[in-house]
Parts: sequence; C-alpha cells; structure tokens
Amino acid sequence: MNKSILITGANSGLGKDTARQLGLIKETEKIYLACRNETKAKAAKADLEKTTGRSIFEIIIMDVSNPDSVRLAVAELKEPIDALIMNAGGMGGNSPMEVTSDGVTSLFAANLLGHVVLMDELLKEKKLNKVALYAGSEGARGVEDMGMNRPALKTSSEDEFAKVIDGTFFDEKTDPMEAYGYIKYIAALWMSSEARKNPNLRLITMSPGFTSGTAVMNDLPFAKRVMFKYIMLPIVAPLKGLVHKLEKGAKRFVDGISDDSFKSGVFYASKPKRLTGQVIDQSTIFPDLNNSSYQDNANGAIHRFIK
Ligand SMILES: NC(=O)c1ccc[n+]([C@@H]2O[C@H](COP(=O)([O-])OP(=O)(O)OC[C@H]3O[C@@H](n4cnc5c(N)ncnc54)[C@H](OP(=O)(O)O)[C@@H]3O)[C@@H](O)[C@H]2O)c1
Repeated sequence: MNKSILITGANSGLGKDTARQLGLIKETEKIYLACRNETKAKAAKADLEKTTGRSIFEIIIMDVSNPDSVRLAVAELKEPIDALIMNAGGMGGNSPMEVTSDGVTSLFAANLLGHVVLMDELLKEKKLNKVALYAGSEGARGVEDMGMNRPALKTSSEDEFAKVIDGTFFDEKTDPMEAYGYIKYIAALWMSSEARKNPNLRLITMSPGFTSGTAVMNDLPFAKRVMFKYIMLPIVAPLKGLVHKLEKGAKRFVDGISDDSFKSGVFYASKPKRLTGQVIDQSTIFPDLNNSSYQDNANGAIHRFIK
C-alpha cells in the first residue's frame, strides 16, 4: 500500500474524492493536498478531516500552470512520497487558448506543463518512491457522442506536437474541447515515454471516465456549459449509460495507484464507445499509443517549453 500520496487539484471534484477514499484506507499515513488556492484548500482539508475522521491531510500550495510554483513546492516537500496523482486540470479557465509566458496555451499549462515539471523535479530530487498516475481522458481517443473528434496528427513529430502545445496547430474556430483531447493524448504518450525511462517506477495514465459531481464544466463557454451541465450530464448521458458518479471516477484513481496489475506505461480508459465501466489498455484500440517514437517526440516537444 502507499503510505504517502500527493494529489494535485485536491480541493474539488475527483481530486478531493480520491483524497477522501484514500484517507479511509488505514495504511494511508499522509495525503498532500496540492492546490493553488489556500482558502479552497483549507476548506477541503477541514471537510476531509470531518468525513474521514483522520488528521493526515497537509496542504501544499502549487499552481500547476506555473513551473516556478511547482519547483518551490517540491523543494519544500520534506520527505519522498510513495504515490503521485496528477489530477489538476480541466478546460483551462476563461481563455484556454491564450498563450502563457512559457509559450504554451493556458489549456496545456493547466493540464500538462506543470505536471511534467512536477514529475521531473520529484525524480531529480529522488522524492517519488513507487507510482505516479496522470488523470487522462477518453477525449484523447475522441468521444463521438460529445462531438469530439479523435486527435488527427499528420506526422506525430516533435515539431507537430510543439504546435499543439503552443496552439499554432489550431485556428481561432477550434473548439477548446477538441484541443483538450489532443493535450490528454500527448499526456498519455509522455507518461509512456517516462515509464520506459524509469523502469523502477509504475507510471500510468488513467481516465476517470465521464464523471458527474465535479466543477470541470464550469469553465466552458456559456452555450456549451448549458448544454453539458443541464442537458448532456443530467439527462442524455445517464440515459445512454455514459456517465457515472464521483465515487466511481475517483475509485479508478485509487485502484490505479493501489493495484499493481495496472501496468506501467499503459493508458487505461473505458472500452470503445463507452465512458464508464471497466477500463482497458487503450493501445488495444489505438496502436499508435504504443509507438515509442511518438511517445518520445511528445516528451521532447513538451521539454522545449521547460526552461
Ligand atoms: N469530470 C470528468 O468527467 C472528467 C473526465 C475525464 C478527465 N477528467 C480530468 O480529471 C481531472 C479533475 O477534473 P474534475 O472533473 O474533478 O474537475 P474539477 O472539479 O474542476 O477539479 C479540478 C481541480 O483542478 C484544480 N486546478 C485547475 N487548474 C489548476 C492549476 N493551474 N493549479 C492547481 N490546481 C488546478 C482545480 O482547482 P480550483 O478549484 O482552484 O480551480 C480543482 O481543484 C482533470 O484533469 C480533468 O481533465 C475529468
């Protein structure tokens, strides 16, 4: 079992419920809540202590869009952690395609840039003992029922991945949800690349599945937000069996770090055309996920933006 776990974006939704479920496991001795907002983090900590009856939660201030904030947080971490859950992210705020001072879109910064810095720093400082999990998404393989196409890259070269990262791959009409799928795809490739480089660790990508009860839709533009929050999520998706409750989505993360049968380097998500239920190795659907050149190209492209 993992005694100490760090979870990014642990103040709400999947991150917070993962912290709750892990807190109820008696072997868990410490859970670091890595959050960007201190007030929200304190409220989450108080609630988690109440619901689990345990005082094992510690706040770490970390904005995963900001590499310096991540580096500072890792430097302040006194002891190595057994497990890392890279959960923070979502739709990238009000201007997801705006480019940050690191030269990446805000959407990329929130979902991936800081997490790559986080893993790099933990590995460099020898502060990660066993397992890391990245919160992936079925969006990485396209979701027909939500009008999300599968990422369509022409060469999967470093240059092409870099264009996705800095936003020049897209035009002004691109739906940020589509760009989100590309970013989660690049993330899965990056994790597989790192898994080959770090055979002593278990590094997996796990989609939580389409999960209700989180704030992930709040950043969507008005029309899309209304469609997803008030039509798709509560009416259409349940009718089609395409959505599950928060506990089930978070349980995928708990299982991912706790169960060694989830193999390093693999991206796990729902079966084809599903967003809930059993998870399977996504490379059985899309063999390109297993292409080690694509994996390393994605990793190389990301590192072009890390100073
Ligand atoms: N819900 C789903 O159906 C679904 C499906 C597939 C994948 N996912 C993935 O699951 C993860 C969690 O999403 P969720 O549904 O639980 O959404 P959520 O309720 O909005 O939680 C997202 C968390 O990430 C934090 N966060 C966002 N940007 C951050 C940053 N720059 N630095 C630090 N923390 C940051 C948020 O903090 P604030 O409260 O400060 O904003 C919040 O705690 C995301 O990576 C999402 O892409 C979700």
